[in-house]
Amino acid sequence: MAEPTVPPPTADQVRNLLRAVIDPELGANIVDLGMATDVTVGNDGVITIGVKLTIKGCPLRAQIKNDIESRLETHPGVTKVKIEWGEMNADERSAVMTKARWNARENAGDTAVPVTTRVLAIASGKGGVGKSSVTANLAVALAAQGHTVGVLDADIWGFSMPRMLGMSERLAARKVGDADKPKIIPNERRIGSGLLKVVSTGMLVDDESTALMWRGLMLTKAVEQFLNDVHWGELEYLLIDMPPGTGDVQMGLARMLPRTDLIIVTTPAVSAQKVAIRAADMAQRSFLRIAGVIENMSHFTCEHGSTYPLFGEGGGATLANEIGAELLGQIPIENAVAHGSDTGEPIALTGDSAAAEAFRDIAKKIISATVPATDMAGCSARLLESVEVALGKKPR
Ligand SMILES: Nc1ncnc2c1ncn2[C@@H]1O[C@H](COP(=O)(O)OP(=O)(O)O)[C@@H](O)[C@H]1O
Ligand SMILES: [Mg+2]
Repeated sequence: MAEPTVPPPTADQVRNLLRAVIDPELGANIVDLGMATDVTVGNDGVITIGVKLTIKGCPLRAQIKNDIESRLETHPGVTKVKIEWGEMNADERSAVMTKARWNARENAGDTAVPVTTRVLAIASGKGGVGKSSVTANLAVALAAQGHTVGVLDADIWGFSMPRMLGMSERLAARKVGDADKPKIIPNERRIGSGLLKVVSTGMLVDDESTALMWRGLMLTKAVEQFLNDVHWGELEYLLIDMPPGTGDVQMGLARMLPRTDLIIVTTPAVSAQKVAIRAADMAQRSFLRIAGVIENMSHFTCEHGSTYPLFGEGGGATLANEIGAELLGQIPIENAVAHGSDTGEPIALTGDSAAAEAFRDIAKKIISATVPATDMAGCSARLLESVEVALGKKPR
């Protein structure tokens, strides 16, 4: 090894250089995130850096290593770069996520959604599993408890909130306060002492040509408008009914409303691995937290009281377990669920069936804040690992 001809950089200078190394998953540099811990510089120009990963088997490890080396090795006075890998504990992991979210929030534009609103996006890896039914029922159940609940129908082309909530009036726009641009006023419906405030493209489209106009609009742009140009006013909860194949919209949400927590809806049949891979993918690209899993269409109980697992069993629990989130509830298959959706009277409103109870129980869990959000930091690594185990590529 050649003797250094110039003095090596100081530890502070090294830290500054490391600020150019971005953790792609968390979208911030490894120094500010607290991932690059100890830096020592030897007189011989050997730099030793302790790097704590959110999880040991992090797939980004190789990339972070390359970035660190290419930043430092070319620097005058550096003869060698040694990286000592470590793993964060749970507290450090959640501190890092808080920072990452804070950064994202700093970079996010202002939205019209109050900062105190709990934002829950109802998502799934697959269409037709009941996202919209869950959104509509949770919305009325939360409102029935006296809360003000916003519903944003982010399924721009396949909207179903107007039908399911029985609210199809056209949206109005007017100037609010001293704003120079008119705002969209959500449609409102009183539920007991609570209130629903709903926006959906289904409330804008009244003929083919406007429908065509919306078709030309980028999905994320439409959602952005709903977040920015709607006068939400006071709002305790905002439920977002996500479109199927949620990639783009999810990324947009992560950028605009990084405090969004996801509720993942699955059926008992959906192969846990497949959904886990999609969830891993979303966790990697956005860093939204998971508020929990809801298993829909869990079983069917006939009029004689026999119960049949029509669509399989255990999918919700398996998924919740794999992503380290809570299974918030299981909704049985009932004709009344579909009927309620078709008539604009979601079953959770007045129904006395098992499904109605299950929806109301989940709403209660959300209200009583027994639904902590699970940080997905490093979970993509954990998920990928469990997927590999499941596929037999790795020992258990
Ligand atoms: N628990 C349930 N019991 C019976 N039918 C259901 C249930 N959940 C959803 N459905 C019906 O399944 C269909 C798909 O549900 P939907 O909420 O539109 O799914 P997604 O929004 O995920 O595409 C709808 O016709 C709905 O009424
Ligand atoms: Mg839907």
